[in-house]
Amino acid sequence: MSDQIEIIVNGSTHSFPLITGSENESAIDISKLRAQTGLITIDPGFKNTGSTKSAITFLDGEKGILRYRGYAIEELAERSSFLEVSYLLIFGKLPSEQEFKVFTKEITNHTLVHEDIKTILDGFPSNAHPMGVLSSLVCSLTAFYPASLDPNRSAEAVNLSILRILAKMPTFAAWAYKNKMGHPVNYPDNRLDYCGNFLKMMFSLPTEDFEVDPVISEALDKLLILHADHEQNCSASTVRIVGSSQASLYASISAGINALWGPLHGGANQAVIEMLENIRKDGGDTQKYLNKAKDKQDPFRLMGFGHRVYKNFDPRAKIIKKAADQVLEKLGIQDPVLDIAKKLEDAALNDPYFIEKKLYPNVDFYSGIIYRAMGIPTEMFTVMFALGRLPGWIAQWKEMRENNEPIGRPRQIYTGKNLRKIDG
Ligand code: MLT
Repeated sequence: MSDQIEIIVNGSTHSFPLITGSENESAIDISKLRAQTGLITIDPGFKNTGSTKSAITFLDGEKGILRYRGYAIEELAERSSFLEVSYLLIFGKLPSEQEFKVFTKEITNHTLVHEDIKTILDGFPSNAHPMGVLSSLVCSLTAFYPASLDPNRSAEAVNLSILRILAKMPTFAAWAYKNKMGHPVNYPDNRLDYCGNFLKMMFSLPTEDFEVDPVISEALDKLLILHADHEQNCSASTVRIVGSSQASLYASISAGINALWGPLHGGANQAVIEMLENIRKDGGDTQKYLNKAKDKQDPFRLMGFGHRVYKNFDPRAKIIKKAADQVLEKLGIQDPVLDIAKKLEDAALNDPYFIEKKLYPNVDFYSGIIYRAMGIPTEMFTVMFALGRLPGWIAQWKEMRENNEPIGRPRQIYTGKNLRKIDG
């Protein structure tokens, strides 16, 4: 293929560069299109627009491939820990033993949050959704570390912000849950690893000893790896675009959390369990709901099936399904909602309609199930997603900054009134 693409506009030919990525995916660089032709492109939802060149995550939706920095998600989920994957995404390489020791120690050093954050937390009613609490607490870091607002900070100072947010996010997430429960918050236990510390802050009570269940902790670590990045999805694009105005890391991540919250993005795992609960309350007839999903006139939508970019299967769902089965078996969980999930899964995987429409259970379907089995309340599911996605957001923000990317500023086609005068 030529490295130029020609576009004919009103009889005149204009040439635009063809860009090829390291996996041979191609794009037309239309950044000069308007200057040359007066035209812009329209692409609602930017579904066919490459907003950046990125070296972080490669995804092939047709083939069901997902790689972080060149490593297959399957291999990372099998052989790495979430903190190693975080290092990989943020710094571009897997850490050496020594690098990992230092990184882990630094993260452990920053798990504690300022006591005044408790005052902010106390200001929230206990029915506040934990995602709103999480995004507010993350943004409040701009007040505790005002130097983070300086867009011209050194790379070393940026690294400190990165370590701080990675370290404090589990504390914030657990505190958002404690607020919801109306329980006193727990402080981090730096003797434990990342997931163990989080589980203890979530579930331990002042009146009881707490032991981290290795089955739950390992499954959680895997889940976090699977959620760690997903190239230019809605929240990653939000983080990049907010950061492109030179907003701080904390402000950009807080925006990413809000973008993730919606049921069409990270909120889907919560929506899955709510759907399963509703099916159970309605008598548990899965066939009825499969029929409803097939009926175009019926507004019912099966949550957690199919994916915007994966056309055949979601590679994360395959790994997580295995983990979900193991966790359910090891914990010996009996739960009617999970039985309904199993029936829906079986039906959808075998029903020609769902096979033809490529409506296979996706990562949100299984993550909802596994979180429920772990005893994590439904409203915390999206917070768990945010915890996993954090290193991805950081990596996307850092790359955008290091590439000196311009401020995000899409155009539009105006469809409103033409110039008119005020009556009278
Ligand atoms: C994600 O992991 O961000 C979701 O699957 C959504 C997406 O990639 O569009």
